[in-house]
Amino acid sequence: MEKTSIKHILSQGKISEDYEINAWVKSFRNNMFLAMNDGSCLNNLQCVLPTEKYNEEFIKTINIGCALNIQGTLKESQGKGQRVEVDIKTIKILGKADSEEVRKTILSPKKHSLEKLREQAHLRVRTNTFGAVMRLRSKLSFAVHQYFQTESFQYVTTPIITNSDAEGAGETFRVTNFDLKAIPKTDKNEVNFKQDFFGKPANLTVSGQLEAETYALGLGKVYTFGPTFRAENSNTTRHLSEFWMIEPEVAFCNLEGNMDLAEDFIKYVIDYVLEHCKEDLEFLEQRLIKEESTLPKQQRSEMSLIEKLEFVTSNNFKRVSYTEAIEILKRCKPNKKKKFNFIIEEWGADLQSEHERFLVEKHFKCPVILYDYPANIKAFYMRLNEDNKTVRAMDVLFPGIGEIVGGSQREERLEVLVDKMKTLKRDEKELWWYIDTRRFGTCEHSGFGLGFERLVQFVTGMSNIRDVIPYPRTPKNLDF
Ligand code: 4AD
Ligand code: MG
Repeated sequence: MEKTSIKHILSQGKISEDYEINAWVKSFRNNMFLAMNDGSCLNNLQCVLPTEKYNEEFIKTINIGCALNIQGTLKESQGKGQRVEVDIKTIKILGKADSEEVRKTILSPKKHSLEKLREQAHLRVRTNTFGAVMRLRSKLSFAVHQYFQTESFQYVTTPIITNSDAEGAGETFRVTNFDLKAIPKTDKNEVNFKQDFFGKPANLTVSGQLEAETYALGLGKVYTFGPTFRAENSNTTRHLSEFWMIEPEVAFCNLEGNMDLAEDFIKYVIDYVLEHCKEDLEFLEQRLIKEESTLPKQQRSEMSLIEKLEFVTSNNFKRVSYTEAIEILKRCKPNKKKKFNFIIEEWGADLQSEHERFLVEKHFKCPVILYDYPANIKAFYMRLNEDNKTVRAMDVLFPGIGEIVGGSQREERLEVLVDKMKTLKRDEKELWWYIDTRRFGTCEHSGFGLGFERLVQFVTGMSNIRDVIPYPRTPKNLDF
């Protein structure tokens, strides 16, 4: 008999047919009713043990967490809570789980906080919440590739070990094969990188953009989807030291085309999971309702999770220039009762997350694309506008998340780019290959980066970014 997934049995299983599954025990009631889950879907398959056929000793070895192989016949269930169940014909224990040991872990059948689950990140995927989040993460990844492949983009992989700091924020992780312990203490600050593995300083990439740009200038439309690393000391619910970024880059495309692409792409992937992951989304929606029920009414969401996702896919994002945004912020009076109380910045200052949240959640009440930022708060590669003050940058801001996308039209003019690098004291030798592309058939081009975990956060309603990636990397946290 061929093994079948529980998802298949629950959705397409035929009554009176025999099936074989490999799965883990989620609960075991009255020494008879096994709730089995194999990760293929949220719901468990109830399997009924003919108790009279097995001795007590054997039954005692079946515990929550055990891996079992079961063969049996599908029938309609008389019990509450499930439509069908399996009458067990044969049962094999593939992997035991000691009940005393299980009791000490998050596999024990009681409510555990998300913090507690984080401490056992190797087991948390077996909970309903993490099963649902990780299935959604997987489906979203698929949708990302599906969108770009359908739109004729080429998938390019960019290096993880690099010699550059694309964003110029000085937040790179150094890569070295030096045995720092072997170097006398006094010399540690003066390590000679000429002797290191690559013969020059190396670091983990903060963004694949610069390499993606060079590829767009040959393949036309490209995208990356890979890990990026940032040594920023931000202990927030939206920052990871290692996160996944999707970076499309398009030749012969201006800022407006870039905004159209970002909006269309985000709507597509959200629509995709609305269509294909209903069960997991409904479960996470209920989880959120329960979680928010302890909050005062004004702090609860006005829309349910699925309503929020549907709202995003069916409404235009509001496009607002940085200058207009500053005007709006200046006009609004701080209001303690409405829970926004911030200092209104002057033109030229970077927007803080409370400004972004005000614009998205209180003022426009929809996703917002802010564009044309002051040049001096943005990276060196952004296209300077004719006003010589602003650059063709854009950030997409989402309710509850803040910035989900950062992108721009790129500076395609050789002299302007080199001048800008000189002003910002960027090493032209380090990026000679990037500058070189402006010499050979340079053209208008644009792209953006979407933080994949922030997207997963938005879609799943999880409030902490640590709960949407299998093994989160954050400052002072490398336990797994
Ligand atoms: O705005 P950022 O820094 O832009 C870039 O890296 C550009 N080179 C992208 C491009 O144009 N190709 O980062 C892009 C997005 C942010 O909007 C955010 O969603 C996410 O990456 N991000 C993070 N996500 C989790 N943890 C962090 N520490 C993040 N930093 C940025
Ligand atoms: Mg940004």
